[in-house]
Amino acid sequence: MCNNLVMEYVKFWILVFCTFTTISHTSAESDEDDDYLTFPPGFRLGAGGAAYQIEGAWNVSGKGVSVWDTFTHTYPQNIKDGSNGDVACDSYHKYKEDVRLVKEIGLKYYRFSLSWTRILPTGYPNVVSKDGLRYYNDLIDELHRNGIEPVVTLYHWDLPQVLEDQGGWTNDEVVNWFGDYARIVFTEFGPKVKIFTTINEPTSFCREGYGHLNRAPNKDLDPCGTYLCGHNALKAHARAYHIYDREFRPTQNGKIGIVFACPGQIAKNPGDEATVDTYYQFTCGWFAHPIYSEEGDYPQIMKTRVAKNSFDEGYFRSRLPVFSPKWIEYIRGTADYFGLNHYTSVLVEEAPKERETILDTGIHASVDSSWPDTATSWLKIVPSGFGGILRKIRDEYNNPNVFVLENGCSDNRTTLSDTQRIEYFYSYLKEMITAIKRDGCNVTMYSIWSLLDNFEWNDGYAEGFGIVQVDFKDPNRTRTPKLSVDRWKEVVRTRKLQPLNPTIEDASELFGHQGRKRSAKC
Ligand SMILES: *[C@@H]1O[C@H](CO)[C@@H](O)[C@H](O)[C@H]1NC(C)=O
Ligand SMILES: *[C@@H]1O[C@H](CO)[C@@H](O)[C@H](O)[C@H]1NC(C)=O
Ligand SMILES: *[C@@H]1O[C@H](CO)[C@@H](O)[C@H](O)[C@H]1NC(C)=O
Ligand SMILES: *[C@@H]1O[C@H](CO)[C@@H](O)[C@H](O)[C@H]1NC(C)=O
Repeated sequence: MCNNLVMEYVKFWILVFCTFTTISHTSAESDEDDDYLTFPPGFRLGAGGAAYQIEGAWNVSGKGVSVWDTFTHTYPQNIKDGSNGDVACDSYHKYKEDVRLVKEIGLKYYRFSLSWTRILPTGYPNVVSKDGLRYYNDLIDELHRNGIEPVVTLYHWDLPQVLEDQGGWTNDEVVNWFGDYARIVFTEFGPKVKIFTTINEPTSFCREGYGHLNRAPNKDLDPCGTYLCGHNALKAHARAYHIYDREFRPTQNGKIGIVFACPGQIAKNPGDEATVDTYYQFTCGWFAHPIYSEEGDYPQIMKTRVAKNSFDEGYFRSRLPVFSPKWIEYIRGTADYFGLNHYTSVLVEEAPKERETILDTGIHASVDSSWPDTATSWLKIVPSGFGGILRKIRDEYNNPNVFVLENGCSDNRTTLSDTQRIEYFYSYLKEMITAIKRDGCNVTMYSIWSLLDNFEWNDGYAEGFGIVQVDFKDPNRTRTPKLSVDRWKEVVRTRKLQPLNPTIEDASELFGHQGRKRSAKC
């Protein structure tokens, strides 16, 4: 009796509460908003950088020459400011400062890549550099001493030049070369590293390094070279995965995966979801489908379109190489997590044949003029695209565990007051947390890209993604935190996103009317 009364009473108040929260949601959405600003329990935050972009010391202790050493020295005119990574942030000497910065912000892990030629100067495992091993062991130990987990990428674009001279990623021997290198890495560092990433953004170096003249190794091999590079990169990744899985996992018990560049895509003509899907399959799906889908192999639309174009053009076979059933099986399932690099989005529409399209998509990509610019020409601020790609990955591959391994934006390195970056992180992370909490996307790690301003590939030092500025004119490569470091410290401490500095009265002055309007909406 008494219990029943209590139950009725409880029910009444639940009803009142629900009605009230529904009303308040429809009117202000404030509770929900608040929840989407708070990181879920156990969610991990970190920051990253890549060997060639930060280490410098390109020729110390017998280090071998990589394709990026060769490219920047041979074609300085291809780098915006004619610079190179010879010294970069000098992290080879200053790694302790980098670790201290990560610690001061309160981040839980640090993502960095290994320089293949620093460890194996000849490119092969016949010579293992003592100094190369010493450097990475010192860095890993320094991280552990400071309670920071190392997240280690084996390959971030700096192939040994000697292997490039034999075809590099277009020679399928690279599967053996990469496997041998990976075995050395797991043997030497595996006891102290629990998260490995095999290859960073194969779409980027395959398209821009082998497809057309732009980045190292500066080969112009399309319309076939891009796909051939990708084919071998998938095989090489799978080889490294299986080596880890069989020989090292039983004792080291870590996780290993690969990381893709997955842009967001939004239909130029509302409702044109077929085009959105095709574009996705040719960018993210090209590498993700063979690994994460249940059936494996390239996405069907990719096989169909490339084959059709190839036969139309007079080839006897598809320019997209074909995997044997054995290779399909060997590659399928070779990742313990889904590594995601995401920066920006594009508008996509079917294109008439004569218009420039991406690979064989038959799609024209453009940007919306209302999307705010950053210092990087290709990087527009489109937070909604981040949520979109996370939901797409959830739907395509049965909700894999996603590690966001790169996200950030650039500035032109003239100011420490990087308010646009603060706004970028706020709006993108809010999208991500919403995708986790509202849409059930299984994202558990997020990496700020990057810790330091560094050698930004073809853009040299003209722009910086760092939350810490580096003075590249100073031989000491002095590091100075930007405003976003202060903001990150607060976010990490409270585990809650903070909007732009409330003391800035009128943010439209900072971003222009359009930018502010958009980000308020997102
Ligand atoms: C290494 O390269 C620098 C230029 O970046 C050069 O000044 C130096 O002499 C080189 N050192 C060796 C050992 O070759
Ligand atoms: C997310 O992925 C991790 C690792 O695979 C798994 O343990 C966890 O159960 C997943 N969480 C959800 C909500 O699916
Ligand atoms: C750099 O960016 C700032 C802020 O966006 C802008 O005011 C300035 O003109 C830019 N400087 C250069 C050299 O592009
Ligand atoms: C170089 O930087 C370190 C760390 O910030 C500092 O302790 C040192 O005094 C600097 N040296 C010079 C010559 O500026």
